[in-house]
Amino acid sequence: MNPAEIPQVATPVIAIDGTAASGKGTVARRVAEALGFDHLDTGALYRAVGLAVLRSGGDPGDAAAAARAAQSLRPGDIGGLIGDPALRSETTGSAASKVAVVPAVREALLDFQRGFAGHPPRGRGAVLDGRDIGTVVCPDAAAKLFVTADVEVRAERRLKELLGRGAPAIYAAVLEDMRERDARDSQRAVAPLRPAADAFLLDTSSLDADQAFEAAMSFIRTKAGIG
Ligand code: DC
Repeated sequence: MNPAEIPQVATPVIAIDGTAASGKGTVARRVAEALGFDHLDTGALYRAVGLAVLRSGGDPGDAAAAARAAQSLRPGDIGGLIGDPALRSETTGSAASKVAVVPAVREALLDFQRGFAGHPPRGRGAVLDGRDIGTVVCPDAAAKLFVTADVEVRAERRLKELLGRGAPAIYAAVLEDMRERDARDSQRAVAPLRPAADAFLLDTSSLDADQAFEAAMSFIRTKAGIG
């Protein structure tokens, strides 16, 4: 058979979107581990762009600078940044949310995300977490989840995480920043943060990490017949 005629079997994709500090990253990592799928934290891509702009002395609100940084980002750059604590700082998170508003930035990151989803490194399946995976990046995902929690609960979690890392932080500032990011992420014109029509809504306000993981797996089993 001509290789071009060999049918390509698409591997399953699980889309996990949601608000900042909702627990979506932890759920995504654990689901990927349980299923033997590869995981892509798409927020890290936007963070890498935001950090590149900050490090070059630019303003993350400058659309042209953000677009240039996104277009010159190479997949290998992300690997190098993953262990860098600066990638996880609140300043970088806020810069990421600003560059994410720019259509040329989203466009530049789209191919990489779709490439990962379609051809995950180990070839079994992919879990992508972000803001627009179920709505824009992978609208045909086998299962879509939208993870959120009350903003006060999320601010508490983020505060604990920052203090745990030895970063100086106060609750009121973290809460205000969280509200600003929610507004910017959900009100932008391109690919705003919102649940896909067929997403399972998972509110983690009163759930611990194990309970959130179990609820996600139970939905994925029922919806996609995997796990
Ligand atoms: O999930 P996170 O906090 O690491 O994401 C940082 C920012 O990146 C978030 O505020 C908005 C942006 N983002 C996005 O616009 N689309 C995604 N798929 C992932 C993140």
